[in-house]
Amino acid sequence: MSAEVFHCLRIEQYDRKFLDDICELADAIRFLSKSKQGADQLASLLSHKRAMLYFVQPSTRTFLSFQSACQILGMKTADVRDTNTSSEVKGESEADTVRTFSSYYDVIIMRHHQADFARHIANVLNNSNRPVPVINGGSGKDQHPTQALLDVYTLIRSFKERGGVDGKKIAFVGDLFRGRTVRSLACLLTKFQGVRQYFVAPRELQIGDDILSYLDQHGVSYALTEDFRSILSEVDVIYMTRLQDEWDVKDGGNTKSINLQDYSLTKENMNFLQPHTIVMHPLPRRQEISTDLDNDPRAMYWRQMRNGMFIRAALLAMIFDVTDNIFRIKETLGENVSVE
Ligand code: NCD
Repeated sequence: MSAEVFHCLRIEQYDRKFLDDICELADAIRFLSKSKQGADQLASLLSHKRAMLYFVQPSTRTFLSFQSACQILGMKTADVRDTNTSSEVKGESEADTVRTFSSYYDVIIMRHHQADFARHIANVLNNSNRPVPVINGGSGKDQHPTQALLDVYTLIRSFKERGGVDGKKIAFVGDLFRGRTVRSLACLLTKFQGVRQYFVAPRELQIGDDILSYLDQHGVSYALTEDFRSILSEVDVIYMTRLQDEWDVKDGGNTKSINLQDYSLTKENMNFLQPHTIVMHPLPRRQEISTDLDNDPRAMYWRQMRNGMFIRAALLAMIFDVTDNIFRIKETLGENVSVE
C-alpha cells in the first residue's frame, strides 16, 4: 500500500491525482448509498474491520460523519471521548492508550488538542508489531486534513460546470490564526492551478506566517485584508469561520472581546456577492452567518457537511483497498438500481 493512503496525517501528503481519485470514489459511494442494493453491497465490503474513534476534543460533525462513514462500509466502531473514563486517569500515557487500541481495532481515527499528536502516534505504531492506520480528525490548531478533503470535494462538485476549481478566487474569513480548517485547506489548494486566496481577518486573528511561506514556496498568489466588504463581489468562494476563543484558556490570551461583527455575512451584504459565489463554513457557526441565509442557493455549508460523510467513507475505502470493488459494484448495478 502506498504511504499516501496508509495513514492520513497532514494534507502535504496528498497530490492532485489523489484528490481527483478520492472525489470520484466519494461520488460512487454517494450514488450506491441511494439504493438498498448498493448500500447493502457497500456495507459488506469492510464488515470484517473495526474502527476506534478516539476523540478527546469536542466534536459533533467529524465524529458522527466518521461513524456514519464506517457504517456505510459495514465497519464496527467504538469510541473513547473522555479520558476520565480510560486508564489515562491511572497514569497511563496517551501513547500507550493508543497502542492498546491498535491491539483491538484495525484503524484509529483521532482528534487531539496537540498539533502533530496523530503523527507521533503513527510513528509509535509504525514501530510496533501492529501498525494500524491512523487518521487525523483534527490536531490542535494546526491541521484538519479530512476537513480539507471534504472542502475540496465540495469545491469540485460546486464548480464542475464552471471550469473546475483551477483559477478560482477564495476568501477565508474570521479566526484564521487558530482555524485548522483554513490552514489545511489553504495548503491543499496549492495542488490546483492559479487559485487566488484572500485572508480576511482583524490583525490579531490573521493567518500564520508558516502558511504564507508555504504558499510562497508553491508560487500561490494571495492577499491579506481587514476589509471584508472589499472582497465580497470579487471572489467565487467565501469560507467563513467562527472565533476560536476556547484556545484562550491554554494560550493565556483574551480574544473573547474581539468583535467579528464586521466579518459576518448578512442578508444585506450577500447582495454584493456574484450569483455563482458559494458560501462555505466548516461549522459550528456562531453569528458569522445569519440563519436567514440558510436557504439561499449559494449557502453551501449544509451540503458541505454531508459531503464529509462520503469523502471519509472514500478515504476508509482507499485505506483498506476496496476502491476497485466499489467501482465494480457500481458498474454491475449500473443505472438499474432503484434509488429510494
Ligand atoms: C472545525 C474544527 O473542529 O476545527 N469543525 C469541524 O471539524 N467541522 C471548526 C471549528 O471548530 O470551528
